[in-house]
Amino acid sequence: AKVSLTGIKPTGEPHLGNLIGAIRPALQLAEEYDSLYFIADYHALTSVRDPEELRHYTRSVAASWLAAGLDPRRTTFYVQSDVPEIFELNWVLSCMTGKGLMNRAHAYKAARDRNVEAGEDPDAGVNMGLYNYPILMAVDILIMESDVVPVGKDQVQHVEYAADIAGSFNHVYGDSYSFKIPKAIIPESGNGNTLPGLDGRKMSKSYDNTIPLFLPENQLKKLVRRIPTDSTPVEAPKDPDSSPVFQILEQFAPPSSADVVADTRKRLEAGGMGWGELKNVLFEVLLTELGPMRERYDELMKPGSDLDVVLDEGAQKARERASRVLSSVRKAIGVNR
Ligand code: TYM
Repeated sequence: AKVSLTGIKPTGEPHLGNLIGAIRPALQLAEEYDSLYFIADYHALTSVRDPEELRHYTRSVAASWLAAGLDPRRTTFYVQSDVPEIFELNWVLSCMTGKGLMNRAHAYKAARDRNVEAGEDPDAGVNMGLYNYPILMAVDILIMESDVVPVGKDQVQHVEYAADIAGSFNHVYGDSYSFKIPKAIIPESGNGNTLPGLDGRKMSKSYDNTIPLFLPENQLKKLVRRIPTDSTPVEAPKDPDSSPVFQILEQFAPPSSADVVADTRKRLEAGGMGWGELKNVLFEVLLTELGPMRERYDELMKPGSDLDVVLDEGAQKARERASRVLSSVRKAIGVNR
């Protein structure tokens, strides 16, 4: 069967963007594909410096996947750092990757642009982990022989890089071993656009504008109230597609709430629905959908829950798979005695 793989990095509490961009589409794909989903903790190390935090977010991302319905009997579910084979292949593929490709990577370029704008040294605060980030991500994908990678739009370039890097390797060693060429799959909801956050920009941990998945009710309500709206009066017709509140509603709403979304759109367009009421609709849909997930999440976050057992078993399966590919690679490049 074809293989679906994706990862989330534990740099903060998992949020609606992660659910919509990655978790939901990935769980859907797990119905027909062989699936491998993981927590990219070594990717988080490019920015997280507090060991307690890294441990906490790793558990919290893992618990979120399971709460959202990941079935560990069907999906190989693991933590990246539990699979040392990844880091050996990381060196090999670093040697196959042009430096110019890394110079053009979005995340690195964005960091440089910010520095230049602030009048700083272009590389200020840029560590080699951030610079090499796309190579490690390529390894995550290639070492598991992935066919498809369900991700949000912001990660598409990285998957293309993985395909490029695989191509460079295959070009030289293809007679002995060839990596599969992976393809990104982006969610259909919102035309594949990234989910907006509390300030209307892309919802992202690094902008501190996220709606975390599992907040106490009153805090969730407060956050929903913070999403920006304009001053169009209640009676006036509104364009739902330019409202981040509506975009979040539309992309988040499960099929069972499709009627609510369609009705809300009509009422906004016709005039007569105010932003306050729209926010109440969003809040209710969030509560209904996230409530049951939260119960399972809270269970899993308790010390001694079966979270660690699940991840241990996943790591073992992931390592078996990775070491098969790694030995083929070692043989192909000539480091096996
Ligand atoms: P990360 O941790 O930033 O995000 C995890 C996933 O959530 C998606 N996402 C969004 N989708 C829609 N709207 C948003 N506002 C939004 N914010 C985040 C991301 O697109 C992503 O799919 N580099 C990756 C982690 C990673 C990985 C991999 C992914 C490491 N190795 C191998 C796939 C395959 C990252 O930082 O995602």
